[in-house]
Amino acid sequence: MDSIQTDVTLQHLSEEDQKFLLGLVENGGPEHDEYKEFTAIVNNLEDPELDYFRNVIGESLNENTLIGHGFVKPYGYPGDFSIIHNIYKYYVNPDEKYRNWDRFFQAQAGAQAVRNRKDYFLKRCSEIDQKEKGEQHVLILGSGPATDVNEYLHSNPDSRLRFDLVDFDQHAIDFAMQQNEPFKDAINYYKINVLRFKPYQWYDLIWSAGLFDYFKDKHFVYMVNKYYKYLAEGGEFIIGNFSNSNPTRRLMEVLSDWYLVHRSKYDLIRMALEAEAKEEQVEVEMEELGVNLFLRIKAA
Ligand SMILES: C[S@@+](CC[C@H](N)C(=O)[O-])C[C@H]1O[C@@H](n2cnc3c(N)ncnc32)[C@H](O)[C@@H]1O
Repeated sequence: MDSIQTDVTLQHLSEEDQKFLLGLVENGGPEHDEYKEFTAIVNNLEDPELDYFRNVIGESLNENTLIGHGFVKPYGYPGDFSIIHNIYKYYVNPDEKYRNWDRFFQAQAGAQAVRNRKDYFLKRCSEIDQKEKGEQHVLILGSGPATDVNEYLHSNPDSRLRFDLVDFDQHAIDFAMQQNEPFKDAINYYKINVLRFKPYQWYDLIWSAGLFDYFKDKHFVYMVNKYYKYLAEGGEFIIGNFSNSNPTRRLMEVLSDWYLVHRSKYDLIRMALEAEAKEEQVEVEMEELGVNLFLRIKAA
């Protein structure tokens, strides 16, 4: 009797829901008017039901879709350079077997927040570039595709910013190098774990997005404390972290097996203070959707 009840719980999805989901797979993902129904199904799933659900939509969870790329993790972790680049470029697979899934993914607040955080970074770079000093140094921790740097240097060919990019994935470094070949004089690459990298200079900006939201609190605090000391006078350390009000959270977890440590403004301030920053040096901003928060720590 017990085992029958367990099976019923695991199957949870009604026949109607299953039919609806199979229809989506056939149609290459949800149409716009199906987003609400699909999201409601996903948001109501419990963890023990995930395998069953993923079996039903299994044909779509492959590398041809953005959600499937997250799920398959061809480079061993979700949120790799390639998916981030594709979010920035608003990539949609032209194949109708997959197109609607990509449109759906790109329409999510989480994806828009990633694009917004790039724009936020571009603004910070431009502010630093306008300072009257000579070369300005920017360190990026977990630099990924460096599409943000590419966009900045492309639009600011006379920039005095010099970038040091740190990433432990050789594929990410290769991709970043290739697309930034025209700007090679302005960029140095370091293939190393950020926990081990030792800076050899001070920076006007230390930037990290899409990295700290994978760290537990104790690593977060360790990293702030470690890098904060490398800020030049007037410099800033800015860390992006998904907010715990991210409406795309469950979709990322269920569809792409992509788990982040979501945090509040107060979590970020508390950890900055634990890392020995002073209250008056710390503030938290957000992009326009409020999905990505930015912890800003000014040099002492
Ligand atoms: C989500 S991507 C973000 C890329 C970029 N910051 C952006 O926002 O466009 C995270 C990147 O951090 C890198 N990464 C993750 N953990 C790392 C670590 N401990 N040391 C160095 N790089 C790391 C990954 O290889 C990946 O390229």
